[in-house]
Amino acid sequence: MKFSGKTVVITGAAVGIGRASTVKFAAEGAKVVAIDLNEEQLNTLRREITDQKGEILTLVCDVSDEAAVQSAFEAARARFGRIDILVNNAGLWRYFDNFLDVTTEHWMKLFNVNVMSMVYCTRAALPDMLESGWGRIVNVASVAGVYGNAKMVPYSATKGAVLSMTQALAKEVADKGVTVNAVSPGTVTPAEKMDYYTHQESSANYMRRTGSTMENADLICFLASDEASYISGQNIQIDGCRRTI
Ligand SMILES: NC(=O)c1ccc[n+]([C@@H]2O[C@H](COP(=O)([O-])OP(=O)(O)OC[C@H]3O[C@@H](n4cnc5c(N)ncnc54)[C@H](O)[C@@H]3O)[C@@H](O)[C@H]2O)c1
Repeated sequence: MKFSGKTVVITGAAVGIGRASTVKFAAEGAKVVAIDLNEEQLNTLRREITDQKGEILTLVCDVSDEAAVQSAFEAARARFGRIDILVNNAGLWRYFDNFLDVTTEHWMKLFNVNVMSMVYCTRAALPDMLESGWGRIVNVASVAGVYGNAKMVPYSATKGAVLSMTQALAKEVADKGVTVNAVSPGTVTPAEKMDYYTHQESSANYMRRTGSTMENADLICFLASDEASYISGQNIQIDGCRRTI
């Protein structure tokens, strides 16, 4: 199996892209640490993985709280040892407002959850990767960070920050066996569907459909695998050939 002997930490693992990724990593033999705020869905995820004989540790943790992140990674190491792969997926995006109506508090919240969480988790995981000489970091950004979305100015800005952080860190660690990449989903089938393979109609792209959570998980797992060993500092858009005009 592709990830035998590897430990992966996935944030925002309870639903959506994070959940599909957790299921796929576990099916490919990884020991999975699933972090989220949503305890109820983490519990259903744990049952789903253990029913399939996968190995999982679920941790309720607010990834925008640095001390909580440090405790979560200590618990992860106590259970599975070294962290090999980090998927920074947790994010807030369901807010739509005119730029002039967005409060400073909201800006700070989005930056704390969408950007600083990645700083805290990466800081917690990277030393293991540098020590072992092998590591994979996959940051979930968005097409909003590439093109900018009206009524989503703060969100777009956070994802732009994720993309530049990805490129810059990739250069710092490129000769140490650690790759850092981003994926930028377009329109994803709503997480509430709790179905990893469903598509819906969408006018946002030339394929005229949403991407399933498992299509996104497939890309994340590829970038985290040995097969992607010569890819770093990249952003891969997964958007069904998005309409940009
Ligand atoms: N769904 C889309 O159409 C889409 C498009 C582009 C990018 N994305 C990005 O993909 C990622 C996942 O989005 P999704 O739509 O699959 O899932 P989602 O937004 O439905 O759920 C995200 C998960 O993150 C968790 N989370 C939120 N804040 C957290 C915190 N502070 N600490 C811990 N966990 C927290 C939530 O509880 C939830 O389980 C996000 O980064 C999002 O910005 C999604």
